[in-house]
Amino acid sequence: MGSAMKRVLVTGGAGFIGSHTCDLLLERGYEVRALDCLQARVHPGGRPAWMSADVELIVDDVRHRETWMRALEGVDSVFHLAAYQDYMPDFSTFLRVNAESTALLYELIVSEKFPVEKVVLASSQSVYGEGKYLCEKHGAVYPGPRPVKQLARGEWDPLCPKCARILKPSPFDESVVNPHTAYGISKYAAELLALQLGQRYLIPTVAMRYSIVQGPRNSLHNAYSGVCRIFTQRILHGRAPVVFEDGKQLRDYVHVKDVAAANVFALEHATCDYATFNVGGDRGVTVLEFARAVAAACGRTVEPQVPGEFRVGDTRHTVSDSGRLERLGWQRRHSLEQIVGDYVAWVAAQDEVPDRSEEAAEEMKQQGVLRLAASSAARGEHA
Ligand SMILES: NC(=O)c1ccc[n+]([C@@H]2O[C@H](COP(=O)([O-])OP(=O)(O)OC[C@H]3O[C@@H](n4cnc5c(N)ncnc54)[C@H](O)[C@@H]3O)[C@@H](O)[C@H]2O)c1
Repeated sequence: MGSAMKRVLVTGGAGFIGSHTCDLLLERGYEVRALDCLQARVHPGGRPAWMSADVELIVDDVRHRETWMRALEGVDSVFHLAAYQDYMPDFSTFLRVNAESTALLYELIVSEKFPVEKVVLASSQSVYGEGKYLCEKHGAVYPGPRPVKQLARGEWDPLCPKCARILKPSPFDESVVNPHTAYGISKYAAELLALQLGQRYLIPTVAMRYSIVQGPRNSLHNAYSGVCRIFTQRILHGRAPVVFEDGKQLRDYVHVKDVAAANVFALEHATCDYATFNVGGDRGVTVLEFARAVAAACGRTVEPQVPGEFRVGDTRHTVSDSGRLERLGWQRRHSLEQIVGDYVAWVAAQDEVPDRSEEAAEEMKQQGVLRLAASSAARGEHA
């Protein structure tokens, strides 16, 4: 269903998910404009070489009203992907960039009568916080963050908030949210603004809750780009990957091209309007399993280290169920091996592969974010 001559605005279009979304839109015959401030940490070299010359780029900040006025001119649809993502304690910045910019987008569409036909918003699995678990006695429960005292004892599994039994992880659909970080709260605020204002002013809107997205162009400089980058950098530098807790935490991973396809699917299908969708992997994968997959993709046989360290605020198991979007027709096309393989191949082809993991771990220790569990039972354990 290519829509020739339709113009789409992609905020954050120079970034990881944004640039793959731009590529797919161009391929499908759209005209593409990106609005991106080229955040220095993500893009130290300015406009990235991977951005197609066919993308019209406005370099500016989504916090600015005048910028949006320029960017929205002549546009049929908007992907709002630009966001502040970090582990720093500048809580207000998350709200200002992620939530306020979303309110501003709708404010201008409504007050300036921009004829925008659709908005697709990037949200995140982080809106679920600790996620969903099953208690033998109480069924489905949604616990809060695990107490630091419990983690310090090396007891990793969340307990039932009603009877303190150990809980079993369960994949979650879109129904219950429970964000507990400034980032997650800002994403949920943005979703509420977009979906409520969209409904009230009849601007078809879709919110996409991505799980951990991986693949080429995931910034080597972005603190948020996470576990695959850190494992890959360490392994390519001949160091063992270090996993936190006991390494049995579950996560789900999705290839960036499957995410770009989900974005364009949401744009082109009215069945998605006014709804939220999980966009994640096909199963939960333990961090140990993931570390081994990265080592295999790097062609090394290094075993992950499990020193019994934990990060305050980490979730134990988060696995999204993307059935709702799949039932509408989105198909995931990449396996875990392809996800890891494509990323490692891209990293290995970069001029410079920095490994700041030791410094980053030291910084987290200084800030009290990374700690060592007291229980020796928690240490040196391998799955
Ligand atoms: N990568 C993931 O695993 C993941 C998971 C869940 C949700 N998300 C969401 O997906 C979206 C895209 O993330 P990504 O992984 O591609 O990150 P990214 O850092 O590669 O891309 C974000 C882009 O936004 C730009 N940007 C940041 N602040 C801006 C501002 N104030 N004004 C204009 N541009 C700004 C950056 O320069 C960058 O090009 C974000 O909304 C993010 O919260 C990503």
